[in-house]
Amino acid sequence: MNQELQKKVRNIKPTHKAIQTFYAELKQYESLGATNETEIRLAFATLFQHYARQNNLTLICEKSLRTPQNITIYVNGMLTDNVFGLPRGYWEAKDLHDNLATAVQQKFDAGYPQDNILFTTQERAILYQDGQEVMDVGIADAEAFIRVLHAFFSYEQADVANWERAAVEFKDKVPVLGERAARLIQNEEATNARFQEAFADFYSHCQEAINPNLSKSAVEEMLIQHLLTERIFRTVFDNPDFTRRNIIAREIENVIDALTWQAYNRSEFLRELNPFYGAIERAAATFIDFSQKQHFLNTVYEQFFQGFSVKVADTHGIVYTPQPIVNFMVKSISHLLATEFGRSLSDTGVHIIDPFVGTGNFIVRLIQAIDKTALKAKYSDELHCNEVLLMPYYIASMNIEHEFYVATKQYQPFDNLCLVDTFDLTAERQLSLFAPENTRRVERQKKTEMFVVIGNPPYNARQIDENDANKNRK
Ligand SMILES: C[S@@+](CC[C@H](N)C(=O)[O-])C[C@H]1O[C@@H](n2cnc3c(N)ncnc32)[C@H](O)[C@@H]1O
Repeated sequence: MNQELQKKVRNIKPTHKAIQTFYAELKQYESLGATNETEIRLAFATLFQHYARQNNLTLICEKSLRTPQNITIYVNGMLTDNVFGLPRGYWEAKDLHDNLATAVQQKFDAGYPQDNILFTTQERAILYQDGQEVMDVGIADAEAFIRVLHAFFSYEQADVANWERAAVEFKDKVPVLGERAARLIQNEEATNARFQEAFADFYSHCQEAINPNLSKSAVEEMLIQHLLTERIFRTVFDNPDFTRRNIIAREIENVIDALTWQAYNRSEFLRELNPFYGAIERAAATFIDFSQKQHFLNTVYEQFFQGFSVKVADTHGIVYTPQPIVNFMVKSISHLLATEFGRSLSDTGVHIIDPFVGTGNFIVRLIQAIDKTALKAKYSDELHCNEVLLMPYYIASMNIEHEFYVATKQYQPFDNLCLVDTFDLTAERQLSLFAPENTRRVERQKKTEMFVVIGNPPYNARQIDENDANKNRK
């Protein structure tokens, strides 16, 4: 294996209790006549989890993954890092009833990853790295098996290692660049008439849409966030036209154009972050499953907020709803619709809204649950959602459109996502929210009779210390 890809792992020795327990368990299974992979694989899982933990990794068992070809595969174990969930390796259990070589080939034909994957039976362990078989040993030979474990746990893709280094640096660089952008904005506000006009316009739209008490600095921060993250949206989500297609991004681009037309060059300004953007892009490409990639970006986003704008993140309660909860809630709603109302999620007229969409997890899951035949109509007219913060709004928009694309192989912009304060929508007043298209969406949503409300509202009710000056609205 390439030395560069070798991460330092803790020593594994034949005298370790975990190793001895593993061999004792295998023997015990054998004496009890347990021979199927499902009967014996716990011994492997326990051993692998032990060494995963020792190396700050986690083995996620029985993981389902969706390949880019939209085929779902199941691995018996996926090894990931503990922070970003980046894939480190995979484990597949077989037994003596299988011809291991044939079984391996079948898995690869089905799209299983080949970077670092370990196949085991109670007698053999075969390790593939970078598409090549690198070891094939008898399990009874403890020294040889331990060599396999070492190689398996120490593998780290260069792109993953680079990202981990870049992330540490990025934490310091973002606030510095953010401050520099804030100074630039202040400077242009004092000297650039075109920017003054664009900004004043944008600021009043923001107050309308989000909060009449919104401070100028909060709006400046939106511009900065857009400036710093817009490339990631284009590249990682593979949506090069994002800033043209998204109705809000388009508005903000106009303001940024006015900001930059006389004095400064955007790519020059962002040059310092180029290595970081590159590292994110390459790390994101190591995921085969889009929802994992999305989770990775959520984490990047959360970390970005922590470094840059803790208070905004805190006020709005940006916490992503864990996937098992989203799954449970979507299934519960489906059950209740059937048992209490004789309806289904796919029925015409069952309008569904997530008023606090965050990054779109509920809508994405709903798209998966809706019948293929009903999906286009639902997506066009009957799925609705709102978000008040710019970054989650962008992420939700991309996630939802991507999910629809995966399901239908067609790109169709999602027209029912509003950038708006949901709590404001009951007020009877003339709205003018950012862009005519956003206002139109909000008006349409207000007229729609919703059948289902699903979501995870912000829960951060009170500030504890008045000095935080970070109070939510009444
Ligand atoms: C708990 S999160 C929802 C997470 C989402 N289910 C997901 O998994 O990504 C709550 C979201 O509500 C948004 N939010 C907070 N106050 C809001 C308001 N008044 N109107 C609309 N959205 C709001 C926050 O920005 C945040 O993204």
